[in-house]
Amino acid sequence: MWMMMMMSRFNRLIQPTMHDAFRGPAFLTKILRQYHSNGIDPTKPLSIINPWVVKEPREATLMSDLSTTREILGPGMILLRNFISVKNQVDLVKLCEKWGLGPGGFYIPRDRNGEKLRLQMMSFGRNWDPVTKYEKPFRSDGSKPPPLPFELISLAESAIQDAQAHLDGLPSMHPDICVVNFYSPVYGRLGLHQDCDESSESLQRGLPVVSMSIGDSAEFLYGHTRDASKLESLYLESGDVLIFGGKSRLIFHGVNRVYPHTSPQEFIDQIALKPGRLNLTFRQI
Ligand code: SIN
Ligand code: MN
Repeated sequence: MWMMMMMSRFNRLIQPTMHDAFRGPAFLTKILRQYHSNGIDPTKPLSIINPWVVKEPREATLMSDLSTTREILGPGMILLRNFISVKNQVDLVKLCEKWGLGPGGFYIPRDRNGEKLRLQMMSFGRNWDPVTKYEKPFRSDGSKPPPLPFELISLAESAIQDAQAHLDGLPSMHPDICVVNFYSPVYGRLGLHQDCDESSESLQRGLPVVSMSIGDSAEFLYGHTRDASKLESLYLESGDVLIFGGKSRLIFHGVNRVYPHTSPQEFIDQIALKPGRLNLTFRQI
C-alpha cells in the first residue's frame, strides 16, 4: 500500500507518458528538467544557500589556502588556479546570496527559442539577458540590476594585474558588468557561445573577460571554432580564475558539466552553498 502511494506520488511529480518510456535518455532529461524546476516558484527569488544546514563560524586561521599557480592557455588566455582565497570565496557567495534574493536577483533565463537555460542567473552593474543582450536597462519584471560592488571590481582587477605579470600584451579592463550564474550539479550546463555583445571598441581592443569559479568543479570547453572535435577541455575548480582577452577574446566556450560533491571541504565547512557551481563573469562594455 505504502509502495503504491509512493509510486503514485512519483508519477504525479514527473507525469511520464507511455510514449516517454520508449524515448530512453530523453525521458531521463524530462525527469531531471522537472525535478530541477520543481518547487521553483518563478515569483519567488532563488536562494543559493541551503537553509537546512547551519554553519558554525570557524577561526579564519584554520582555513588553508593553496598557492596560486598559472597556466598560459594561448595568446591572451590564462588560468589562475587557486587565485581566490577561501575567505573571499565565502564572501562572494554571501554577496551573491544577499543580492540574488532581492529584486533583480536570480532567475532562470530563456534563450531565443523560449527554452529555459540550465542555470540561474543575475547580473550586477548592467542588465544582460541572452535574448535582449544589453538593450534593456530593466528586466521584464521591471527590476534593475544591483550596482557592481567595489569588492568585485577590485578582485577582478587584481586578477588581471596578476595575469599581466605573467602574460605579455594582456590589456587592462575596468568591468561594468558581472553576470553571475549558478549551475546545479548533474543538470547544469551552458552551450557553446562567444561573449560578443560588448561594444566594438571593447572587442577590437581584446579587453579581457574574467571568469571566477566557486563551489563544485566543472568541465569548461573552449576553442577558436565551433568544431566539437577541436575543443579543449579544462577542469575548473573553486577559487580558479580564467581570463581570456587579446587574440582569445572571442573564443567559443561553454560549460559541459558540473561534477557533484567536488566543492573543497574547507569551503563547505564555512558556507552551506547548495550543491552546484557559482560563476562570476566580468566584462567591460
Ligand atoms: C559564461 O560563459 O557565461 C559562463 C562560463 C562559466 O560558467 O564558466
Ligand atoms: Mn560566456
